[in-house]
Amino acid sequence: MVDVELIKTKGIEKNYRLGSTIVQALRGIDITIENKEFIVIVGPSGSGKSTLLHMLSALDTPSKGTVLINGRDISKMDDHSLAMIRRNKIGFIFQTFNLIPTLTALENVLMPIEPTNKDKIKMTKQAIVLLKDFGLGNRLKHKPSELSGGERQRVAIARALINDPEIIFADEPTGNLDSKTGGKIIDLLKKLNKEYGKTIVVVTHDESLLNFATRKIFIKDGRILKDVKSHLGTKHRGTGTMNSKSINSEENSLKETKSVKKKPSRGKWTARKHQKINEKRVSKKVGWRLNVKTWLK
Ligand SMILES: Nc1ncnc2c1ncn2[C@@H]1O[C@H](COP(=O)(O)OP(=O)(O)OP(=O)(O)O)[C@@H](O)[C@H]1O
Ligand SMILES: [Mg+2]
Repeated sequence: MVDVELIKTKGIEKNYRLGSTIVQALRGIDITIENKEFIVIVGPSGSGKSTLLHMLSALDTPSKGTVLINGRDISKMDDHSLAMIRRNKIGFIFQTFNLIPTLTALENVLMPIEPTNKDKIKMTKQAIVLLKDFGLGNRLKHKPSELSGGERQRVAIARALINDPEIIFADEPTGNLDSKTGGKIIDLLKKLNKEYGKTIVVVTHDESLLNFATRKIFIKDGRILKDVKSHLGTKHRGTGTMNSKSINSEENSLKETKSVKKKPSRGKWTARKHQKINEKRVSKKVGWRLNVKTWLK
């Protein structure tokens, strides 16, 4: 199969009409997003960052130009195909969380699978595992108004991950959080990219993400001012598969990596075999395993 870019835009423009005035939010953007990139978008307020994220994630359509996802022009897709892409391929984390106030944390996480025919019981177990991973095991039945800001954001992230998307967009995900909670969210995004091979596109001003990014895009007045790839490249990036191991447990995963490295004499094959057996054990325990490649077939 020819390896096509994950997302590619050609000359996209976005105009908003406000009464008799037209706001030109984007004025011709060409971007190609490759698999496993960690892209940070920065720019002044009103420069078009959120608008761009909405175009790239197919949440909205441009006034002019094209957006291709895996080489397919989204303007030529029917509603069903577009909905499938939004649901299965893309996760979106909003700055303002966008949780449904009348639904519980668990119900909010399950929202994206509601219109699908996926096994509800299996998906509910999966949502519970995710929420537990995020330290919200005792908040499943809480409504958003009964949760703190950081807890709400974690529910929103669990919702973005429930379908094991290939690419995650986040619009200032730490903007409404204190620095400690924000730090945890940032670690999670890094981990999703580095260990699970997810492509991340994030609008942020956070220094630690700027340093971690494989690419930085500077936007001003609806145009790309600079698009800089960092030397970090894609080495050490993961496999694109997310399984039921705690994605929030940095410590556990570090231990695992260390133990594999500590015993080089056992050979690569043995280490891989042990890791696989370990993964299988964990998957069996919680009863589910996500595999992006299988799901997108
Ligand atoms: N729905 C809308 N209707 C009219 N104008 C809009 C709309 N959404 C955005 N705009 C305008 O488009 C421009 C770009 O907005 P956008 O939200 O993309 O900026 P931003 O870079 O994300 O800013 P911030 O950092 O403040 O979030 C702004 O001038 C904004 O006022
Ligand atoms: Mg914005």
